Amino acid sequence: MKYKMVSFISVLMSFALFAQQVAAQPAIIPEPVSMTQKDGSYQFRNKIIISSENTTVAVKKIGELLIDKLSATDLPASFNVGMQQQSDIKFVINKLINNSIGKEGYQLSVTEKEGVVISANEPAGLFYGVQTLLQLLPPEIESKSVAKNIEWKLPLVDITDYPRFGWRGLMFDVSRHFFTKDQVKDYIDQMVKYKYNLLHLTLANDEGWRIEIKALPKLTTVGAWNVKKVGTFGDFSAPGPDEPRDYGGFYSQDDMKELIQYAKDRFVNILPEIDVPGHSLAAIASYPELSCTPGADKYKVRSGEKIMEWPANGHFYALVDNTICPANEKAYAFLDKVFTEVAQLFPFEYIHVGGDECAKNFWEKNPQILALMKQENLKTLDEVQSYFEKRVEKIVESKGKKVIGWDEILEGGLAPNAAVMSWRGMKGGIEAAKLGHDVVMSPTTFAYLDYMQGDIMLEPPVYSTLRLSKAYEFEPVPEGVDAKYIKGGQANLWTEQVYNMRHAEYMTWPRGFAIAEAVWSPKNKKNWEGFVKKTEQHFARFDFAQKKYAPSMYDPYFKFSKNDKNEITVEMKTEIKDLNIHYTFDNSFPDNFYPAYSTPVMVPKDASTMKVITYRGNKVMGRLITFPIAEMKKRAGVK
Ligand code: ACM
Repeated sequence: MKYKMVSFISVLMSFALFAQQVAAQPAIIPEPVSMTQKDGSYQFRNKIIISSENTTVAVKKIGELLIDKLSATDLPASFNVGMQQQSDIKFVINKLINNSIGKEGYQLSVTEKEGVVISANEPAGLFYGVQTLLQLLPPEIESKSVAKNIEWKLPLVDITDYPRFGWRGLMFDVSRHFFTKDQVKDYIDQMVKYKYNLLHLTLANDEGWRIEIKALPKLTTVGAWNVKKVGTFGDFSAPGPDEPRDYGGFYSQDDMKELIQYAKDRFVNILPEIDVPGHSLAAIASYPELSCTPGADKYKVRSGEKIMEWPANGHFYALVDNTICPANEKAYAFLDKVFTEVAQLFPFEYIHVGGDECAKNFWEKNPQILALMKQENLKTLDEVQSYFEKRVEKIVESKGKKVIGWDEILEGGLAPNAAVMSWRGMKGGIEAAKLGHDVVMSPTTFAYLDYMQGDIMLEPPVYSTLRLSKAYEFEPVPEGVDAKYIKGGQANLWTEQVYNMRHAEYMTWPRGFAIAEAVWSPKNKKNWEGFVKKTEQHFARFDFAQKKYAPSMYDPYFKFSKNDKNEITVEMKTEIKDLNIHYTFDNSFPDNFYPAYSTPVMVPKDASTMKVITYRGNKVMGRLITFPIAEMKKRAGVK
């Protein structure tokens, strides 16, 4: 008995030792190209010393940023540049034998003897190595304040990593709702953790002009402001003449310079979008002479009231003419001024000129447009837009920049050098690549972050849904297309329905994790189940960082059908494995003691609600969803 007791204790002790030595399974998002792990760990003990032989400004900045993150530990951290010394973390530049990692790749090793060594050809690679290093540390590293009593351990790993694409973008629409300079910085801080390198800012749309153009002051004295409305965007009441137009804002050129530098320090380019000729109400409200439609001088910056009709046949039309007029020479003089300043301000090689959803119903009978068509021998209104795009391309190129636009710019003939951002599925991108143009894939089908992430009974309502598992299927290079034309991919966060930063975070993450794997990780490394496990670990990191994310992957899908007696059946399934769905029709709150769904369920004749929630074992995972009977009948097609 005594012997048994001793051996039991020694088993317990060795288990404790083992648990102490093995740091958690790494959960790196995006998945690295290759990673091997050995038993054991490296622990930062009394202090953390970082050293780098390289003394460039960019490397020093990376060191500063790392020190800043390490302030969440209770260990003093220091960064020694130009010194070779005993250190916990070493930065090495330009010493690589393996050159296949390119400009943004890195190698990271953690050994018991040497601690952490991050090597890269360029500072960008070092920066991405640091992001991986942070993800190897316990999640408390994301804490807002000092996290006490944590063992700051790293697993022993050997990682070689580099991106699949050079264009790894997130689009943040700061026009529909304005987000401050600090909020944009915060967005950049989050995106770089997942190795995104491009921030596309929508700076001009119907709801606001957001960038100071010194030669055109009304763009920001008038165009940046509308009436604050709260509720369901698109259905707002038309603003009255007395309602104050004090909602919105803009970035001064100095603000934007600060943002560009902030992004650059984190290896992010900012792509400015000036959306023309459609979606231009903010510009027209500021300078009505840009329109060819009589009465445009009464137009106001949109405050979320209805200005377009979207019939199911896809032939949308505008209720007010929100287009800049292609037949108006003043439009080109205006754009010349805009692009002169935009080109001077933004160092990135591209300017995005929009081109999407340009309603042409006001053009049909407009005498100036008809005269232009005659003069230029343009047969269709798409050719009128194409004429406009080609002139815009010339203006942008005259400022030393390249043009990128939404895939509508293909219609009526693509401008000679324009790159295409494919959003209406992959079709436009395929067509452009086949014509030999560069393409960025950002299809609604996989990459629209403004879409709902689960059932509309729970999610803030939007007209379409994109679940996490679908986003994870995103593959930027379609079959039959020469991959050399696909510059990369991008996820887009339009903000008509996004009023604040917490909701912007909710909409971006975790789908932003999924798109990050599509644009960084090798295709053959993708694995949905592994990704879900990592996502859950990153949720813990977000909790420490006090950032919001959508837990929608824990909520079920529903399918309602009826039989010939009008009885309703509901089928339910979950997006991820190992969840149980518990439900009730008796109006009470289901928990894990309620029936667990296994096969399709008949809705009882007299039920007035169905309530559903998911559990993992005895832990609640999903959110309570309540279906009123009217909704179930509607979905099943019961009259
Ligand atoms: C778009 O979503 N209208 C490009």
